[in-house]
Amino acid sequence: MSASDRPYRKVLVERTAEEATTTAATLLKTIVCEAVSQRGACHVALAGGTTPHALYQKLAAEGASGEVPWRSMEVFFGDERDVGQDNVESNYRMVQRTLLDHVPIEPTKVYPMRGDAEDLQAAASEYEQAIRRLLPAGAGGLPRFDLILLGMGGDGHTASLFPGSEALNEGKKLVTSHYVPVLGRRRLTFTFPLVNAARNILLLVTGEDKAKAVLGILTDDQESRQLLPAGRIAPTDGILYVILDAAAARLTGLTHA
Ligand code: 6PG
Repeated sequence: MSASDRPYRKVLVERTAEEATTTAATLLKTIVCEAVSQRGACHVALAGGTTPHALYQKLAAEGASGEVPWRSMEVFFGDERDVGQDNVESNYRMVQRTLLDHVPIEPTKVYPMRGDAEDLQAAASEYEQAIRRLLPAGAGGLPRFDLILLGMGGDGHTASLFPGSEALNEGKKLVTSHYVPVLGRRRLTFTFPLVNAARNILLLVTGEDKAKAVLGILTDDQESRQLLPAGRIAPTDGILYVILDAAAARLTGLTHA
């Protein structure tokens, strides 16, 4: 176990963003195949942002011929912007164009968040109800995703859980809508109780501009770690894989094995 591994966390450092993407794709495929063979389905929540584009494109390029049992997948989204599905800012639209349009997934098993709903809190609560209905619950009674894919911003935000925002301390709602002062916009997002109940969380972070935040979330000091939203990812009974390229890991002292 390296200095930056904790019992629930495994940090993997690759030389380049491309290699980090390949590692993420391999891990994702292993997790999906295992979930489908053990439980007959895989419930996954995908991330927005630019980092996962290459990962989605890689999976899309393998398409139907790859190892992923797409027909047994149920696809959710960890966060969404306050826009409709056709808007260029929509996470759903990005994932649809880079991945979902190219693989044999059942359209009825893809669950976009309603980012253009007039009442976003009602949309968040509907989404939570759908998750509670469709996912098996774990020992703590919370629905358990087989896999939640996440990215991280340079300020340490993950999903739409931004530093200083009210959603960070949400202990009851599993999905919420909140105003993010730094964006001047509302977002829909999973909250930590739902994130941390997952079986597997894959946090993919690349690039020099994330190095400081990466150092912050990997520190052994729990109090400082929790200052950054992504530092609060700590699965209660699952595994967090942090996949980095060398640029993002630069300040941690961790290198490619
Ligand atoms: C979003 C995300 C968000 C993202 C980070 C990193 O909707 O934008 O879900 O949490 O993962 O902002 O974004 P980049 O990959 O673009 O750096």
